Order: sequence, then C-alpha cells, then structure tokens
Amino acid sequence: MAGCKRIAILTSGGDAPGMNAAIRAATLVGRSLGAEVLGIERGYRGLLDDAFVSLEPGEIAGILREGGTILGSARCKEFHIRTVRDQARAILAKRGIDGLIVVGGNGSLTGALHLADPMEIGTGAGLKVVGIPASIDNDLALTGLSIGVDTAMNTIVEACDKIADTATAHDRTFIIEVMGRDCGYLAMTSAIAVGADLALFPEAGKTEADVVEQIVSTVIAVRQRAKTRRGRRVIIIKAEGVSVPVERLKAAVDERLRATTANADPAGIEIRVTVLGHVVRGGRPSAMDRLLGSRLANVATRALVAGVSHKMAAWMPPVELPPEVGQRAAADPYCWLVDLKAVLEETDHLLAGKSSLARWRAGAFGQVEDAQDALLL
Ligand code: F6P
Repeated sequence: MAGCKRIAILTSGGDAPGMNAAIRAATLVGRSLGAEVLGIERGYRGLLDDAFVSLEPGEIAGILREGGTILGSARCKEFHIRTVRDQARAILAKRGIDGLIVVGGNGSLTGALHLADPMEIGTGAGLKVVGIPASIDNDLALTGLSIGVDTAMNTIVEACDKIADTATAHDRTFIIEVMGRDCGYLAMTSAIAVGADLALFPEAGKTEADVVEQIVSTVIAVRQRAKTRRGRRVIIIKAEGVSVPVERLKAAVDERLRATTANADPAGIEIRVTVLGHVVRGGRPSAMDRLLGSRLANVATRALVAGVSHKMAAWMPPVELPPEVGQRAAADPYCWLVDLKAVLEETDHLLAGKSSLARWRAGAFGQVEDAQDALLL
C-alpha cells in the first residue's frame, strides 16, 4: 500500500463553518509527515479549471477562525459525467497528485468515490481519496456530526432567542424556517435548544393540511395554558425540507385561526414568518467545529499518507463498529475511518427515512407532537 506524497484538498458543495480548520490541519499534518499539500479552488469546478494553489504554513495562519472556506466552493453538476471525471483525473495525474481529500457533503463525497473508482481508472492506477464530512444539514450517515452543524445550530439558537424577545413583547406567533435541505436535523435539535413550541420536519411525512392543523392546535393550546401574558407567544421552527412555503402556511393558518378563535381569543392571533436562509451557513466556526475540522483532517491526512483510500473520516464516541464498516483511527479515539461506499449507501437510507437513525429521529419527535406539549423535552 504505497502512501501518498503529494496530496490535494478541495472543499465542495455548500460551505460549512469549520472547513478552514480542516484545510489548515491537513496542510500542517501532511507537511509534518513529509507530504506536500496543495489546495484546489472552487471544488470540482476548480479542479476541472486546473485551479491549484499552494498552501504554506504562512498562508493558512489564523484561517481556522474564519467562516466559509478560503479555497472557495461550488456545486458541479457535470461531475456526474464519466468523461468529465476523466478530465479531472488527467489534471490530477499531470499535477502528480496521488491523494485527494474532499471536504463536503453527500454529493461531493459521491464525486470522490467515482473519481477513484477502480472500474473507471483501471485497477492498480494510483489515485487515493479520503472524504471529510462537511454540511450544516447533518444528513451524512456513519458520522455523529459533520463539520458546520454545531455552528449552524448555535446561529439558529441565537437568532431564535432574539425573535423570541420580540414575539413575547407582542404576544405573537413566529414560524421560523431553517436550512437543512431534505433533513430535519437542524430544525429538530434547535427546537429543543430554543424551547420552541413545535418543530416541523420532513421526516414526519405530514401533508400540508396536517401541518396547518398542527400549527393551529399548537397555537391554541399554548395560548390556553398560558398563565401570564409572556406565556402567550409561540415559536415554531420549520425545516426547509417541509416544502410548503412559509407565506402560504401563514395564510392557511391565519384563515383557520380566524374561524376557530373568533370568540375565544378576541385580541386575535398575529403570525409573523422569518426565513433564516443563508445566515445559518455563515459566521465564525464554533469551538466544536474547529476541533472537528482539525481532528477529522488529521485522521484523513494520516490515512492518505499511510496509503489508505476510499474512506471517510468520521466522528463518533468510542463505540464499536463492525470491522468491515469502519476502524477507529489510531490517531484519535473519537475519529473513525469508515468505508466511503457504506457511508453513501447508509445516507440514502437515512434520507429515505428507512434507517434506524431516521426512524428514531422521527419517532422521538412524533411522541412530543402527539402529546401536544410540543418540545418540552
Ligand atoms: O447543503 C447545505 C445547504 O445550505 C442546504 O441546507 C440548503 O438547502 C442548500 O445548501 C442551499 O444551497 P445554495 O447555497 O446552493 O442555494
């Protein structure tokens, strides 16, 4: 198993706070092990443009405090095409790159797996790849956390706390939409951290009418049980994966509430909506994301230098995994090297709501909804 001597790193897909920590650690660890580490700008798109940059210790000083990614990122749909990947492989070969670290989410890691697919490059040909999970959505399987999730959650909590102040002052109901693509993780966890009254997430599989009904009954229940004016405000966190646009949701809920509460709540119930959008993806990485980026990159770089390929560095408490799925990284007991193909297969199950984790997430929150005591976990 020949180890890699010339490693490139790219960040791909939606940027995530903590990506810079990974770039910095890969550079420093690679150099300390005698390997050269280069950066590729703008993900796979930059790779196709041959946009390589040097990463010297002097150039990366202090970057771990910065949000986003100093290498830039992009989505590159053409990478699904085999001939486009052939071009990418030719550029990597011309540059003498024998190891590639891909920092990104589901689509980006799928690209990495195809890029180093022995069926495509011919058995024995030398490109090695290791992935590092980075996506605020936390929708990758076989890792407890992906880079960026912790910062995004903290940003949501901070924003919701601010909204709660004004909601309380005006006795209002707020529906706050958060990013997460098809995954409700950010909505669910931030709802707990914020003490929200209801979380709406795609894994629950509700119809639009069900969602409207959930909101209406939550608003009525919260206002009926309120003992003080301050208790009358309602905070609802909606994942963007619940595909009803928030304004349409508000209009439907307004209409239902007018009909239902005309006599019971003569003051009327005012609803406002806030879409946090890309705010959630920016900002200085939390301490957790700096650690995660650094430690996963440490493990990924060491793996490439040792000649390991087709793995993803993963973050998990020191549990046991079947050896065919993953091995604990010798360099860090919280880090694992899991089979990249197994990660992507399990991620498909997670997103389809078929994995045990998906079922647990939906089930744990489903019980709270049924109790109408919304998220007083
Ligand atoms: O995957 C990260 C993410 O921020 C999702 O939460 C969101 O749906 C998507 O990217 C937005 O992508 P873009 O920045 O390309 O609009």
